Amino acid sequence: CVSHGMVAELSNSGRLLHASSSLRKSGHKSSNITKGRLSGFQARQDHLRRQARCSILVQVPSKTKCSSILQYCEKRAGKIVKAYHFSNSKDYTLIEFADESSVKNITKHARFFMPNKRGNQYYGTQYGSIPVQTRLMFYSGVELEKSVAGWTTSKYSVPFESETPPHNLIQTLQGAKNISQQMSMLYKQERLTELGMRLRFLHCTILEDLLTSIFPYVKINPFGSCVNGFGQRLCDLDMHMDIQPEEVTASEALNFLTKKLPENERIFTQHILNFLADIIQMFVPHSANVLRITHASVPIIKFYSRALDIDCDLSMGNRSGLYMSELLWFLGEIDPRVQPLVFTIRSWAKEQCLTQKQAPGRKPTNFTWTMLVIYFLQAKQVLPSIEILASLAGPGERKTIDGYDRSFSTDIHKYKQLNLKTMNVASVEELLIQFMEFYAKYDFSSQALSLRTGTSYTKESMSPMYIENPFEPDRNVSKNVSMEEIVHIQKACAKSVPDLKNSYKLKKLDQRWGLINLLSSQSHPPLDIRFKVQDLLTEDFDSEDGNVTSESEKPSHSKLESD
Ligand code: GTP
Ligand code: MG
Repeated sequence: CVSHGMVAELSNSGRLLHASSSLRKSGHKSSNITKGRLSGFQARQDHLRRQARCSILVQVPSKTKCSSILQYCEKRAGKIVKAYHFSNSKDYTLIEFADESSVKNITKHARFFMPNKRGNQYYGTQYGSIPVQTRLMFYSGVELEKSVAGWTTSKYSVPFESETPPHNLIQTLQGAKNISQQMSMLYKQERLTELGMRLRFLHCTILEDLLTSIFPYVKINPFGSCVNGFGQRLCDLDMHMDIQPEEVTASEALNFLTKKLPENERIFTQHILNFLADIIQMFVPHSANVLRITHASVPIIKFYSRALDIDCDLSMGNRSGLYMSELLWFLGEIDPRVQPLVFTIRSWAKEQCLTQKQAPGRKPTNFTWTMLVIYFLQAKQVLPSIEILASLAGPGERKTIDGYDRSFSTDIHKYKQLNLKTMNVASVEELLIQFMEFYAKYDFSSQALSLRTGTSYTKESMSPMYIENPFEPDRNVSKNVSMEEIVHIQKACAKSVPDLKNSYKLKKLDQRWGLINLLSSQSHPPLDIRFKVQDLLTEDFDSEDGNVTSESEKPSHSKLESD
């Protein structure tokens, strides 16, 4: 498909071919997401949200049953435009209808049963289930046979898609021509898939459905890596909830009688999040391990969705993560070298044990690593500073929120008017080596990094690493990173430079070369061995309830605590 918004293209060697075209052939199978007016971040979000609203997720006894369930759904409810099969601990079909009314039709026919799997079919009992309606469903072969007798002979038109599991990354990388190609392969294999994206939006809209009768304007927006273009296959789902209407309206003759909004917004947020934690814990099928981290500087709740195999975070209030997602998405879109470089650096940092899995901690998080890469690319004139993007902001894009300037433009046409001829045309491979050289020597002890200006300045803070939050300059997004970890990072960067420079000698000798060396470490398992804690936590369908952690057990910080 054609991706609008790209202003550059890469050659086979990963070098920038030209920097003026606004069209680029892309390997993404993102249908019409990127066509025409759907090219902007918000339009893309709206499109994915609409898709999600037309979708249901059905647990099926096996892959072989998918065709019959699709046939049932199309006959019962309306045209299906897309369907996927996937399995984690169980088999599922994600079905997207052409129209949202089909979802209503399908739910009208569904019943409340507690499923028990026997052999290859589900049986159910009405007793013992809490009758809450969501778009998470299960397929009962018995019901199907009764209702679609005579239908099964017709040929079914929508084939379901299955996602291929990732190949062995090391083998894939061994076959590349050069390091740039390895970086591109890594990015294509590791990035969040279309199904992954759909499941994340589906989950947001399912939660919205549950809450709309209480909060009619509720909007649960995904943010973070699952929408900013830097999400990996297993990335978590960060959600932000708003309950206020987007537009202020004048009073009518008849208005709703409501309760007064408490003055202390933080306490109100904590109450709502606790209430949501109860709802999720008790009523959302497949959700488990609900944690309430409501006393952190940014209160959140965390939980795990077994059906989707996704870790979820839900927050309210501070919207800076939403703006940040749009900004990062745009930066990733304007130059095709950004995403492969970010993915490579994040994979390398993870393999070298230089990434903090659960924030806060002494190591940079994935988000911090992304900021380090963006800053480096600004310093190398590959990416513009936020100030430049702010200067391009039109009236609709000017935003001052909580006293901070959050204006920036994501208008690709305005961006193209900048003098792109001066852009750095280095290959991604060259940028990778330069990144390592840059941070091996970077003076973290005296300098602060500003993505706003794209330059460094003498820091006043005592924090060993200071990366200014672009939207809240007096806050440091790497506050928790320790001096000791900076030493490890700089040593690892310095060690990687000769490893990368000697790559082609090793390739000639048919030895492990390039990213294969970079992403392997003696003391850690190879990249393709993935261990998921959730595998250990998976329970039987019949025992739905996860654990609610009490206030006394909860961790005392959230990932945003560092600011
Ligand atoms: P992964 O989930 O690790 O793939 O990356 P992520 O970018 O989604 O990071 P994470 O889930 O930890 O955080 C979600 C979003 O919250 C980020 O993309 C940021 O927008 C925001 N965020 C995370 N950590 C910080 C922080 O320390 N400061 C600020 N201001 N925002 C943060
Ligand atoms: Mg995340």
